[in-house]
Amino acid sequence: MTKNKYYHIITYGCQMNEHDSEKLAGMLENIGYNNTNKLENADIVLLNTCTIRENAELKVFGKLGQLKEYKRKNPDLIIGIGGCMMQLEEPVEEIYKKYRHVDLIFGTHNIHQVPELIKKIEKNRERVVEVWDQEEGLIPDLPSQRESEHSAWISIIQGCDNFCTYCIVPYVRGRERSRPLEAIIKEAEKLAAEGVKEVTLLGQNVNSYGNDLAEEIDFPLLLEELNKVDSLARIRFMTSHPRDFSEKLLLAIKNLEKVAKHIHLPIQSGSNKILKEMNRGYSREYYIDTVKEIQNKMPEAAISTDFIVGFPGESDEDFEQTLKLVKELRFDMAYTFIYSPRSGTPAAKREDQIAEEVKKERLNKLMDIQNRISYQKNQKLIGKIQKILVTGPSNRDENVYEGRTGTNKICFINKRPDLIGKIVKVKIDSAKSWTLQGTVVE
Ligand code: SAH
Ligand code: SF4
Ligand code: F3S
Repeated sequence: MTKNKYYHIITYGCQMNEHDSEKLAGMLENIGYNNTNKLENADIVLLNTCTIRENAELKVFGKLGQLKEYKRKNPDLIIGIGGCMMQLEEPVEEIYKKYRHVDLIFGTHNIHQVPELIKKIEKNRERVVEVWDQEEGLIPDLPSQRESEHSAWISIIQGCDNFCTYCIVPYVRGRERSRPLEAIIKEAEKLAAEGVKEVTLLGQNVNSYGNDLAEEIDFPLLLEELNKVDSLARIRFMTSHPRDFSEKLLLAIKNLEKVAKHIHLPIQSGSNKILKEMNRGYSREYYIDTVKEIQNKMPEAAISTDFIVGFPGESDEDFEQTLKLVKELRFDMAYTFIYSPRSGTPAAKREDQIAEEVKKERLNKLMDIQNRISYQKNQKLIGKIQKILVTGPSNRDENVYEGRTGTNKICFINKRPDLIGKIVKVKIDSAKSWTLQGTVVE
């Protein structure tokens, strides 16, 4: 009798990576491995890495250090590392030289090769490094072992052409490539047939979907086609680049009933000088007009954003511009980051880097204001009815169930196993900055 073999995947970074990890899982299942959530039981451990900020890399090196001990206890353990960090020469070299217990290094463009690379390692017991600079030829649609039965990611556009001066993504994920419309619709139909209620369309800039395809294909058209897929209940998407957020798209979101009324529209900074130096391609005034237009036409919509504080040369006055904008636009939610220099990007070469204490101080100030606004906005929902897709027990307490509103807010309800995978109405009883609590009314 052959022993069951197990894999364990650790994922860092954004939804693209989570989705890639589901594909890695799908491929490993196909070659006879089962998932385990206990590292000590694994025959294969894969790290799917992120390199967006220095912190992300530090976590990976920390984990690699720990894995040495696992390898010592179980010399047959296969340790593989892939993802965005592996598209950069420096970390690959360092890992190859200093972390001798790593058996496999692969990149973002060749995850489909992982099963054959693993078989090679199983057979020859030698270390394998295989990283591609870009996708070569036609990459097959890969099987996916989904984390959730009711929600699924669909990748619609890979890579990024924007080259914001702080950002490493275009270097590690390559140029923009849109997936054919038919392939996306087919995938959505298949997922819906399997019981998926909600899909999230993924891309670094979903608004430029179709620019590299036939003329008439664009993101609003894709939404329109997906809206027709029977038994899908909700369509989410992220991320929208403000520069490419059109009136046509706003109308599509408003008019298509399955499209969630939530727009993640990262601004990064409220200062025109900084926006220009970031190469974001829009001004503060343009961004404000865009958000006001959304708020006018779709008052029920939630708008969230990302900020970077401490970009090189950011003065107190620039930062004040950011604070002023936050108070004026009143986002539902914001992710706030401290600028982290990424080697190889233009901003990292600048000599006017901001001191760490100043960056932290700015981050705290911004977070305080935004948390207060999020709290006030959520408080306004008390007594109101929201529709949530119930996903199951919350991480913290199995007697508390959770779901998300169309506006992407987490809402807790009492334990109701019968509601998992259903969209139900809840009356909101209480609210915090990040979460709501409600009672099911239907
Ligand atoms: N494509 C998306 C976001 C991708 S990265 C967009 O353009 O909006 C997610 C967020 O990480 C960015 O919005 C930005 O706020 C942040 N980020 C990217 N590079 C960073 C860096 N070098 N330091 C700090 N934050 C960064
Ligand atoms: Fe990075 Fe800018 Fe592309 Fe977003 S749009 S992934 S921030 S380069
Ligand atoms: Fe990180 Fe790569 Fe995403 S760098 S944020 S995992 S695209």
